[in-house]
Amino acid sequence: MKTVKNKRVLITGAGGDGIGNALAHAFAKRGAHIAICDIKNLEKTINELDEYDIESYAEKVDVGNKKEITRFLENVAQYFGPIDILINNAGIALGGLAFENVSQADFERITNINYWGVIHTTQILFPTLIKRPEAAIVNISSSQGIVGVSNLVPYCTTKFAVRGFTDALRVEMQMRNIHHLTVHTVHPGAVATNITLNADYKGSHTEPFHEMLQKKGASPNQAAEIILKGVLKNKSRIFISDGRAQDIIARLFPSSYYKVIRWLMKRRNLHISED
Ligand SMILES: NC(=O)c1ccc[n+]([C@@H]2O[C@H](COP(=O)([O-])OP(=O)(O)OC[C@H]3O[C@@H](n4cnc5c(N)ncnc54)[C@H](O)[C@@H]3O)[C@@H](O)[C@H]2O)c1
Repeated sequence: MKTVKNKRVLITGAGGDGIGNALAHAFAKRGAHIAICDIKNLEKTINELDEYDIESYAEKVDVGNKKEITRFLENVAQYFGPIDILINNAGIALGGLAFENVSQADFERITNINYWGVIHTTQILFPTLIKRPEAAIVNISSSQGIVGVSNLVPYCTTKFAVRGFTDALRVEMQMRNIHHLTVHTVHPGAVATNITLNADYKGSHTEPFHEMLQKKGASPNQAAEIILKGVLKNKSRIFISDGRAQDIIARLFPSSYYKVIRWLMKRRNLHISED
């Protein structure tokens, strides 16, 4: 894709001040029209988008609810127009919990949002995307879709699943010689957002982890620029901050990378667990 100017971009989880909000700015600045959804803080992003000479559309939608997604995408088609670029960004971290303390309801909640949310939007929009002259599907996984981390089993599970889905879909497009619809898996490492504070479960780990993200993480704007450039350059896998380093560690030490990750976390005085 040479330019995103006049492309219609749909970004989930773009309310507030995280990576989704920054993506809306990055694409709007280059003349893309923006449709967004979130469960909260939509007004902030929509008001900010007023500074660009573009069309925008917003709706309160829980991406964990298929009925709400379906209704939203019908409205987008009717009132906004056909989508060229789908960015599945909405996600929750749930918070640090030892595996035995994770309930089935916790697993269902995070899976509905982080995994099924991605599948539903992609399945519903695919017939539109494949008819567009140039289109892209961009799914935000995580470095934790590459390496597992203790006390974040549900989060890692959903992010591995998003990576698997996205990588498999990309290979299918390539093997079917469908090159005008590109598929991108994004692996952010640390990004300085409020994702830790927004988690359901908090404990003594929350504040130090949040501070580490603010100090060591890429800014949401930097993350958004890397994602946008990755789409323009047709990068299959897009890495942000220490995402690439974690990918290399996992490939070098596939069965013992946990020792490196544990050592790094000790050095940063971090643990991710309930009290
Ligand atoms: N911040 C990081 O270090 C980091 C690292 C790796 C991956 N990620 C991923 O990046 C994406 C964006 O996260 P972020 O860091 O900007 O966090 P964030 O908490 O700032 O943003 C997540 C957004 O998703 C929205 N959201 C949550 N549940 C939703 C639902 N059910 N329906 C619709 N919207 C919902 C939130 O309201 C919020 O606006 C997530 O998928 C996250 O897993 C973040």
